Amino acid sequence: MGRLGDMAKTRTSFLCDECGAVQAQWAGRCPECSAWDTLVAYNDPASGNSGGGNRPGGVLQAAAGTTEESVAQPIDAIGVGDVPRLPTSIEEFDRVLGGGFVPGAAILLGGDPGVGKSTLLMQVAGSLAGGGHRVLYASSEESAAQVRLRADRLGAIPSVSAEEDQNLFVLAETDLGRILEEAVRLKPHLLLIDSIQMTWVGSAGTGSASGGDGSRSGAGAASQLRRCATELSLLAKRTGITVLIVGHVTKEGQLAGPKLLEHLVDVVLAFEGDRHHRHRILRGVKNRFGSTHEIGLFQMTGDGLEPVLEHSVRFDEGAAASPGAVIVPTLAGSRCLLAEIQALTATGFLGSAKRRASGLDGSRLAMLIAVLEKHGGLRLADQDIFVSVAGGLRIQEPAADLATALAIAGVHAGRALAQGTAVFGELTLSGTLRPATGAEQRVSEALRRGAQRILVPESQRSDLESIGDGRLTGVRRLVDALEFLSPVPSTEKGAVTAAPTTVRN
Ligand code: TYD
Ligand code: MG
Repeated sequence: MGRLGDMAKTRTSFLCDECGAVQAQWAGRCPECSAWDTLVAYNDPASGNSGGGNRPGGVLQAAAGTTEESVAQPIDAIGVGDVPRLPTSIEEFDRVLGGGFVPGAAILLGGDPGVGKSTLLMQVAGSLAGGGHRVLYASSEESAAQVRLRADRLGAIPSVSAEEDQNLFVLAETDLGRILEEAVRLKPHLLLIDSIQMTWVGSAGTGSASGGDGSRSGAGAASQLRRCATELSLLAKRTGITVLIVGHVTKEGQLAGPKLLEHLVDVVLAFEGDRHHRHRILRGVKNRFGSTHEIGLFQMTGDGLEPVLEHSVRFDEGAAASPGAVIVPTLAGSRCLLAEIQALTATGFLGSAKRRASGLDGSRLAMLIAVLEKHGGLRLADQDIFVSVAGGLRIQEPAADLATALAIAGVHAGRALAQGTAVFGELTLSGTLRPATGAEQRVSEALRRGAQRILVPESQRSDLESIGDGRLTGVRRLVDALEFLSPVPSTEKGAVTAAPTTVRN
């Protein structure tokens, strides 16, 4: 029996450096991704085979001295209580986390290179350290001096008096073993790893450095990412340190292979934004301690990231007065934001017309086009149709259907909604409007931002009347809503299509 147990302990699996899949047996070709000669021997640090004393897992266990006791307990004996939270005082960030960092949580922050991940991290670090919490910023991409320079520029370095200790520590290191040793020594509340792609861990069992030389198992390889992420989440679980790991999004738009890292951490955040625009959106993709509906809005300025409390669309700017631009109050977690949906149509080739959605679901767009054709009387078969949400927002709720449909119909016919109009409502396949969730919140927000008229599903109008300030118009079917589009003189900005025709052509 003992022998069997030992064998199980030292069992080695094989990990594909391409796709990160784990196999029980070695093979010349990865059964998952079919890449040749990519399987490498892999000892899962989580499985407890300690290997050698200078393996990071070993360091961690010895130094932390907190080998977790796993004893089953009756369910009613388990204490619940609230999850303790460590707020960062950066409200847009805390909201996405669900109220702050949870001690012992492993968090992955993904985003394109240059979007502002290091900037966000340094601001979070400065804010926490300023509040008396210890933070270790491990930078594997930049030198300590570079990190210091950025912190200086962001004003993120907490000022401390002679009696106090500095709480913000920087370690420029790519060797995860060293990072873990420092983390165990300093016992910070928060450990930041910037980035996991540039961090490597010596191969299991030998403690020797195999990474960093561009070899197959160098930093950034799937096996390295997986080992590093596993070691880091173990550190979090065993010491209660919150670990925040930066991962660059790969060319394919994946978070360093999402399947590879996402299941190893408790929370996955995505930092999104267009490099050419100032807006940045922080989004929860996975959160074991909270909802993933909340978003955080920032803008990149010369002094770092600033929270955006109000979304930028305003009625008084006449933003919705042009064909193809329609404003919808959309729910993002607990908040309601006004988003502008923009559409453009252009004559394409019958049978191979292009349809592109950015910030909206592509299959939803296809459905709305079909509904516009069937129940709105539009002929769109030879039209290239492009739809996007202004400001980099992403809308996944069907309550934006009516706005999207009106933007397409409007630009196609050179017609626009009257200035100051907001619309919301879900469209059914039969061209009728279905009620939207959170209608009161949508109406209040649109009115607060100066809407003159709000098109709402007729079935909800009477319920909303009391807060509607006499500005609500109920709409039963798509065709009724199309009546609100009126011709726009062709000189006006945005009238990009041919001579206005009636909507129902
Ligand atoms: P960075 O945080 O380094 O991005 P990432 O870590 O995601 O790769 O910063 C990205 C960009 O932000 C960089 O091109 C410079 C710009 N930036 C500002 O505009 N203002 C600032 O205060 C800082 C620090 C950066
Ligand atoms: Mg960076």
